[in-house]
Amino acid sequence: MNTLTAGTIAGEFHARRVRGLKADVLRLVEKVIDDGVFHGGRRVRELEAVAGERWSGHAAATSSGTMALECAVRALGIGAGDEVIMPALTFVSTAFAVAAAGAVPVFIDIDPRTRTLDPAAAAAAMTPRTCAVIPVHMHGLMADMTAIAALAGRHGLAVIEDCAQAAGATDTGRPAGSVGDIGCFSMWVGKNLGGLADGGLLLARDPALLPLLRKLTDLGRDGERNTHHLRGSRGRMGEIDAAVIRHQLDLLPAWTDRRRNLAARYTDALSTLAFGTPGDAETRPHTYYKYPLTMPDPASAAALMTHLGRTGITTEQVYPHAVPHQPALREITHRTTDITVTLDLLPRTVCLPLAPELTDEEADRVIQAVHDFHAARV
Ligand SMILES: Cc1ncc(COP(=O)(O)O)c(C=O)c1O
Repeated sequence: MNTLTAGTIAGEFHARRVRGLKADVLRLVEKVIDDGVFHGGRRVRELEAVAGERWSGHAAATSSGTMALECAVRALGIGAGDEVIMPALTFVSTAFAVAAAGAVPVFIDIDPRTRTLDPAAAAAAMTPRTCAVIPVHMHGLMADMTAIAALAGRHGLAVIEDCAQAAGATDTGRPAGSVGDIGCFSMWVGKNLGGLADGGLLLARDPALLPLLRKLTDLGRDGERNTHHLRGSRGRMGEIDAAVIRHQLDLLPAWTDRRRNLAARYTDALSTLAFGTPGDAETRPHTYYKYPLTMPDPASAAALMTHLGRTGITTEQVYPHAVPHQPALREITHRTTDITVTLDLLPRTVCLPLAPELTDEEADRVIQAVHDFHAARV
């Protein structure tokens, strides 16, 4: 039998993960139903307390990562006409959150080795209107927070860390989200730490920001139901999601180890080929939300994806388009600087399946399929 066609391997594994946790999830949901409290209860508070302690900050749970970014931008007073620097390689929400506040996203290039915001490009993109920078911790690897914090300190910029892809990552031992003013996490079901559908978390360095962040996520309320102190969003997390995410928070370190083991398996087996493999960056260990291979050119990336697809292996390009090139950006005032590296890398990227739920046998099938592709082309 041809092992390469023995079943399909998905690009994402959250269905398998949630199925694996089904008994625990049902038990947690049942307890919430029995208690009869669905919002603003002890489970949200516990998740915030534990995440805040583990990630060295002060946490407020939200309905999504997008909501966390929107609230962070508003809480830091970023508004009309302000410029906010961010990498062109990110998810649209980073830019949408800035635009929602009337501010201007300024897209800059990435470091080709780490695919995270290039601090030198950030320095070059500054104008008198620049008020903040949003480093995005891409694919599970933190941006160079030492350089970014130094730049922000020199110029009085606010720093919002987009930690959507990097729960549990560190830079010089500092947890993602704890270095900037506010860290924004996505707890979408497919992230390294996810709930059942959507969720998110704000991590503030200054506890004095928490009451404002909470109001922003709860329609401007301050714990009392009928008074709305400011224009907030319907952006809080519910008790069921909080219970499920809290449960998974304890599993995250082992899941991250598993991701690293699988990444090492890929890298050991693929490093003899002429394809770029991801890895740690100096003080920043990778947590492998994604495992991006860098192919020599866009045609070979497309051909590899087709080849793997034919053998039942799903791959993805996270992301195929730079954010400033999305059609939606036509309705957003923005500025784009030189993003040559981003535009060169995106079409050459192929993310191989990687998740704690991937078996060693499945990883070996992926490796074999990539080797077969390489052998057929040389
Ligand atoms: C880099 C980045 N920023 C922001 C978000 C938005 O998070 P969410 O999907 O939870 O709204 C995501 C997730 O998709 C992301 O990957």
